[in-house]
Amino acid sequence: MIQKIEGAYPAFVLHTTNTTYLFRVRKTGQLEHIYYGSRIHVASADDLAEQHSVAQGNSIAYTQEDLDMTLEDICLEMSGYGKGDIREPFVEVVCHNGSTTTDFVYESDAITTGKPEFETLPGSYAKDDEVDHLCICMKDKNEGFVIELHYYVYEEEDVITRSTKFINESEHPVSLRRLMSNCVDFNEADFTVSSFHGNWIKEMQKKDIVLTAGKFVNSTFAGWSSNRSNPFVMASRPGCSEWAGECYGFNLIYSGNHYEAFEVSPFDKTRFVSGINPQNFAFALEVGESFEAPEAVMTFSKEGHNGMSQNLHAFVHNHIVRGVWRDKERPVLLNSWEANYFDIDEGKLVALAKKGKEAGMELFVMDDGWFGQRSDDKRALGDWVVNTKKLPNGLKGLADKINAIGMEFGIWVEPEMINVDSDLYRAHPDWALAIPGKDHSEGRNQRILDFCNPEVVDCMTEQMRQVFSSANIAYVKWDMNRIWSDYYSPYLPAEKQQEVNHRYIMGMYRMMKTLMEEFPQILFEGCASGGNRFDLGILCYFPQIWGSDNSDAISRLSIQNGYSYGYPMNVVTAHVSACPNHQTLRNTPLSTRFNVAAFGVLGYECNLSDMKKDELEEIAAQVALYKQHRATMQFGDFYRLQEGNIYQWMVVSKDKRDAVGMMLQQEVKPNEQYVNFRAKGLDAETKYHFYSLPFKHNVKTFGSLINAVAPVHVKQDGLLHNVMAQVVKIDGETEDVTIYGDALMGVGKNLKQGFASSGFNDQVRVMTDFASRLYFMEAE
Ligand code: DGJ
Repeated sequence: MIQKIEGAYPAFVLHTTNTTYLFRVRKTGQLEHIYYGSRIHVASADDLAEQHSVAQGNSIAYTQEDLDMTLEDICLEMSGYGKGDIREPFVEVVCHNGSTTTDFVYESDAITTGKPEFETLPGSYAKDDEVDHLCICMKDKNEGFVIELHYYVYEEEDVITRSTKFINESEHPVSLRRLMSNCVDFNEADFTVSSFHGNWIKEMQKKDIVLTAGKFVNSTFAGWSSNRSNPFVMASRPGCSEWAGECYGFNLIYSGNHYEAFEVSPFDKTRFVSGINPQNFAFALEVGESFEAPEAVMTFSKEGHNGMSQNLHAFVHNHIVRGVWRDKERPVLLNSWEANYFDIDEGKLVALAKKGKEAGMELFVMDDGWFGQRSDDKRALGDWVVNTKKLPNGLKGLADKINAIGMEFGIWVEPEMINVDSDLYRAHPDWALAIPGKDHSEGRNQRILDFCNPEVVDCMTEQMRQVFSSANIAYVKWDMNRIWSDYYSPYLPAEKQQEVNHRYIMGMYRMMKTLMEEFPQILFEGCASGGNRFDLGILCYFPQIWGSDNSDAISRLSIQNGYSYGYPMNVVTAHVSACPNHQTLRNTPLSTRFNVAAFGVLGYECNLSDMKKDELEEIAAQVALYKQHRATMQFGDFYRLQEGNIYQWMVVSKDKRDAVGMMLQQEVKPNEQYVNFRAKGLDAETKYHFYSLPFKHNVKTFGSLINAVAPVHVKQDGLLHNVMAQVVKIDGETEDVTIYGDALMGVGKNLKQGFASSGFNDQVRVMTDFASRLYFMEAE
């Protein structure tokens, strides 16, 4: 709900169910931010605003008519350079006369409903009655530039989004050097800023700092939203925890270079800005031309990090992800990459798919290596024609065989990239981003196609159209495997070279949108060497993203946990893979690999053809179990119960009748025998059957301790020990009680006592390093 408080200087109140955002027009024309937090009643904005009656020290008075007001010490909705506010600006231009000073003041406002589509970028979407829209028009007193500030209020999800449009209504061309999407000023310091950093195979590692002074910048120049610094950030007030306390979450619907800065001013005010990274950015606007900044997303919760995450999970599900797959259960897939890498042919793929089918898997995905001369990662990107030596019956022949087995067929592509060793490059060397005549720095032996050039976008779109319609393709993994270097588009003139990253991203979105609309039934999965482009821009087109090339269950704990702060778990895909794990060489139990992957969208990526019978049986049981709880796992509410040596996660179906919990112990700690599983999100009044599934321990888990009970001496790893391991199976502990929801959430379930050397029976919870358990909670 948006309310305008009329007056000579109006104020605007944006209410969601539990939050309020408030600002007013100052008598000097700037927009003064007053409040963003828990929902409040606002009778008068002026009575709530900060009171400034004495000018501070050596700061700048904005105007001689109001010597007590300096823009440096006022919370603002936007700010430029040169009029006294020396904090992070919202907008930066270089005018025709070389000036960088702007002086934007309020001109008009309009309140409507509905969410119009942006012209050049993806954005959130909603039915008209789901979102209210406020547009404030600001005009620059010096040159006449116009800035439209758009606010969209998603009442139900407690989310407000913002976007900005700059229109050059001056009489001269202008160079736009920065246009932020969001700016929120708080009249306080000491926020804990949390951001998510990493690299290949270690995405989304949460880092916290307390910002008492100075500036903290979370940004990337990788060319993409990147695994180095995800655009999602949080700001928490002192004392905020997972379950209580005040917390803000911010994100950006954008996949290119982004920028999020928190700055504490000498007046102890914290400014947050976010938008396109101004580094190496300049956009030339002729008279009458305009520029759209990406849409920014923000939420507030007084219910801790969990409350903030729940808001964003609902928002991303309801207003970012779209298309037929949004609410459709995702199939359990089997991907060929870690089973075969580039060494694929029809026979191997069909054999692997048959094993997958036997285990209950539903979709077979042929990964890299199927096209052109693609025998390794040095060649053929750009040549999207099937390699008939590997697939003599073409894509259709293979797809038909997979379909005949009873599985859907999916394919891998990397349509934004080109190898120099490709027919495409030989025909169009000027289609890659590279500085003509200069050495080029490559990544994974490949270059980035010049998507600033519409002809390149159209050609690659057509190539993909041909591939996607050449067979019965149900799924596409859209990969992208290098970061940017040598920022240069041969298509653009010299003076537009600082537009390259943004123009590329707009071209890429155009291609994604075209193909998504033409092939609505295809399930698209975004991928960028794992999570190198995990952002809300991509999620506007693809309903799921491969979270990391790291499929090690233990590495995945912090990776998936990191994503869960800002993204719902049904956009994060996760696979069970072989051991030792290909990324870490770590051995983890097969059960743990499943238990962790099941909290994302589950898939398998290992050579089932080489696996032992008992492993295949275990996998078949996992797939069956997952399908039984799939609706809950993929569309339920996700909770982080515990992080650290012991991780506990839980997901609860929307109707609260089904819930699944996981407890994983990374390292055995001696004599730490008691673990409590304290649930969240259940119905207090309902009785739940809390149980775990029966399982057996391998005798060898106990090593030579077997001699404490064996009537004859058993030599460890000797013949007798090996035979016993085959024949004797020891019952593991199980849980099986019925408890009210409020008790499960209040007391928690005290799990069976843990093993501590001096005693064992089937009531003792034996968990070696990296062991885990699933707990089921079903309403009676
Ligand atoms: C990187 C991806 O993240 C992997 O899963 C795989 O698809 C390879 N690319 C293929 O080249």
